[in-house]
Amino acid sequence: MIEVTIRQMYPTDIPEVVNIERTIFTTPWSETSFLQEINNLYSIKKVAVLNNTTIGYVCANHILNENHILNLAVHPEFRRCGIATKLTKEVLKELKEKGCDFVYLEVRGSNLSAKKFYEKLGFVIVAIRKDYYTLPREDAIIMALEM
Ligand SMILES: CC(C)(COP(=O)(O)OP(=O)(O)OC[C@H]1O[C@@H](n2cnc3c(N)ncnc32)[C@H](O)[C@@H]1OP(=O)(O)O)[C@@H](O)C(=O)NCCC(=O)NCCS
Repeated sequence: MIEVTIRQMYPTDIPEVVNIERTIFTTPWSETSFLQEINNLYSIKKVAVLNNTTIGYVCANHILNENHILNLAVHPEFRRCGIATKLTKEVLKELKEKGCDFVYLEVRGSNLSAKKFYEKLGFVIVAIRKDYYTLPREDAIIMALEM
């Protein structure tokens, strides 16, 4: 297990975060999207840092009981080391402290690793959102967790 530090995301983290984002996703978030999350009072945004380098991140929103994990990724070289688990558990802990008891997210239908990942944390599939994604066009699987 790698000893990473999980902490708040700051504007100075954005270049490394966007770099990972662009290697992984076909429709990556922009610098502005991450900056908006950092400035959003109803957002939880965390990074995983190893030797001063950002190797993972997560963003989630909470508005009333509408809690949504928006984005989660780990640099491909550091996967299967428990980093996404640490990031997500930190988010779930903060949501719980804010009184939230339900959280949901979308994943691409073809993203089997993410589905397995969320299932291990107790998320279950609750719905399919038809043609939600582009590049390529694909259904979203909606997963939810009661905390
Ligand atoms: C999904 C993702 C975030 C998982 O990150 P990670 O740090 O490798 O996850 P963890 O090491 O915490 O994995 C915890 C468990 O999830 C499951 N899991 C994770 N990746 C898996 C894979 N590729 N295949 C099968 N199960 C997997 C396993 O049960 C794993 O436990 P184990 O390693 O003891 O078997 C990472 O693969 C990623 O960044 N993918 C691209 C971006 C993405 O799909 N984000 C989610 C949608 S927004």
